[in-house]
Amino acid sequence: MRKGNIVILTGAGISAESGIRTFRASDGLWEEHHIEDVATPEGYQRDPELVHRFYNARRTLLQTVNPNAAHFALARLEAEWPGQVTVVTQNIDDLHERAGSNTVLHMHGELLKARCPHSNQTIDWTGPLHTTDLCHCCQFPEPLRPHVVWFGEMPLLLDRIYHALSEASLFIAIGTSGNVYPAAGLVHEAAMHNAHTIEINLEPSQVNNHFDEHRYGPATRKVADYVDELLGAQK
Ligand code: NAD
Ligand code: APR
Repeated sequence: MRKGNIVILTGAGISAESGIRTFRASDGLWEEHHIEDVATPEGYQRDPELVHRFYNARRTLLQTVNPNAAHFALARLEAEWPGQVTVVTQNIDDLHERAGSNTVLHMHGELLKARCPHSNQTIDWTGPLHTTDLCHCCQFPEPLRPHVVWFGEMPLLLDRIYHALSEASLFIAIGTSGNVYPAAGLVHEAAMHNAHTIEINLEPSQVNNHFDEHRYGPATRKVADYVDELLGAQK
């Protein structure tokens, strides 16, 4: 494997073995909650406290879980190849950062931030968020919302993500089902720039046929093994 820039796209699957449920598994979050109620701008408009309860519970859970071997392996890769590894994550947890990854682009936002809907300024937020929590940036303070991208909204940091892909020689997708665009289409962009593409997942994703290489199994094992291979190959 040629040493070059690496872009890694992660999804809920990488955090599953840390104890955070994925969305589309049979016991996933979307079995228990209606997407339209908790993950759309319309749902938030209808019942903001319900939306806050959903994310407040996830914020509380985050305090009880830890990064796993897959998160740590990606941090090790970045430490060995500084400046060349970009993690693009759909996850709103902070497990990549806690494992030691420095370049992490949260395209669907971050659970530990709240945002002013008017100015778009974000603020660190570790506790529960309520409709009575107002911003400090506007003349007429606005209720803060979760800094999470909902369905129908534009994902974040796309310019930086597409720029990173334009310089990548390796693209790795880990623990994502390939149901949600534009994340699911990033493999095409990487391939267009002649990157080698690899999918690491429990099972084939919706877009598995677009990858050059596949490794199926739990992320804690498959990612750690693959990073060992990459680092071994450069010695
Ligand atoms: P969509 O076109 O409304 O949303 C996709 C866009 O919203 C993309 O830009 C995506 O990146 C962004 N987005 C916003 N919030 C998101 C979030 N919480 N998670 C991920 N991306 C988010 O969505 P769609 O094409 O109707 O549905 C995509 C998938 O979502 C479907 O394959 C299905 O599994 C599931 N789904 C969505 C809805 C919905 O209300 N949109 C309802 C049922 C199931
Ligand atoms: N190791 C590797 N992969 C796993 C593991 C594991 N231990 N556990 C589950 N997976 C895989 C599943 O097989 C599945 O393909 O992770 C994938 C998780 O898919 P989703 O639940 O659909 O999560 P994701 O792809 O991240 O969802 C995308 O949808 O609603 C939104 O905002 C949400 O950002 C999320 C987006």
